[in-house]
Amino acid sequence: MAPSLDDVRAWDKDDPLRAHRDAFALPPGITYLDGNSLGPLPHAARERVARVVSEEWGRGLIRSWDDAGWMDAPARIGARIAAIVGASPDEVTVADSTSVNLFKLCAAAAALRPGRTKLVIEDGNFPTDRHVLDGLARLLPGLRVETADVPGLADAIDGDTAVALLCHVHYRSGARHDMAALTGAARAAGAIAVWDLSHSVGAVPVGLNAAGVEMAVGCGYKFLNGGPGAPAFLYVARHLQAAARSPLQGWIGHASPFGFSDRYEPAPGVGRFLAGTPGVLGLAALEAGVETVLAADPQALWAKSARLFDLFAERVGLRCPGLDLATPRDPALRGSHIAFRCDNARSVMQALVARGVVGDYRPPDLLRFGLTPLYLRYEDVWTAVESLAGVLDPVPQTAGV
Ligand SMILES: Cc1ncc(COP(=O)(O)O)c(C=O)c1O
Repeated sequence: MAPSLDDVRAWDKDDPLRAHRDAFALPPGITYLDGNSLGPLPHAARERVARVVSEEWGRGLIRSWDDAGWMDAPARIGARIAAIVGASPDEVTVADSTSVNLFKLCAAAAALRPGRTKLVIEDGNFPTDRHVLDGLARLLPGLRVETADVPGLADAIDGDTAVALLCHVHYRSGARHDMAALTGAARAAGAIAVWDLSHSVGAVPVGLNAAGVEMAVGCGYKFLNGGPGAPAFLYVARHLQAAARSPLQGWIGHASPFGFSDRYEPAPGVGRFLAGTPGVLGLAALEAGVETVLAADPQALWAKSARLFDLFAERVGLRCPGLDLATPRDPALRGSHIAFRCDNARSVMQALVARGVVGDYRPPDLLRFGLTPLYLRYEDVWTAVESLAGVLDPVPQTAGV
């Protein structure tokens, strides 16, 4: 039997993650279903950034690079993210944006596979991934980009493939790849799979070491709640660290930055993928955001994400029957957002946002809602679908209306 609103309120009461909502400054009157695009503000981030500004920068001045741990922040926060993505602490560092890190790792991976000509990517991935590969192919003669659709992806990764750039969870549909299987296929073909974890880190279980992953990048401002434009992270498996070289050699990635040598010598570990001075304010906010995720029991997070999804899908089925679910139902095959195909999706989302329910629209026809178990209540899902039904009522739908 479908749950009633009373049932749903009871689930919220019993929710083991209930207290985690208090870690966030969630504006009243807003049902926030866009944490897969920009996580909300953790109270700790506001406090941490204020302290960094007034005390560490204001009073400590340049001494804070050492005294306040600014210099170590990329490795320190990387080690914390490693705990979320199933990696060793020395395999992850934090720097730059996801796009820049994608470029650095794909270039490094391609250089590790000389003579191969193919850079493989799934058709219709997030545009930056494709743009980065196209740019790399323009830069390095002999490389070309080959796209493949999902059923053909594993077959496209062959003995001529240098790099396969794979998005763990698709930004539109929310569909999730089998990371271990595709990584295994890439390694069997002698190619390097570079995973983009932007829509999976903090959203679903990620086990990089267990899946044999060699390289990965991910975003800090979505499910990690690191703030707008937060620094991104990158992962290089230990066994590749000595051989992999960043194409963006900068002094902070040098083995001895304060030796001021003219000769570049890469830092021994993943730190060689740093280039310039770390952005301390962004790192401070990210550090607080990452801790909001680490504070929660991951099993409880994944379980609640699955239940939020089921409730959302079920309520939409009942209240908005014209909408067409675009996300796989099986929790093992998806991330932590739900998407629906809808005529007039743009105006529907605008109307929904005007009612205080914030999701987003992805052209041409997708309504997308982030299901973030850290701070969403089951009742929020109920409210959101009721508002959606109210908006859709006068809007003609694709089917069934
Ligand atoms: C799959 C994926 N990769 C990368 C990015 C963003 O990259 P950047 O942090 O460089 O803007 C996004 C942003 O939504 C994304 O969905």
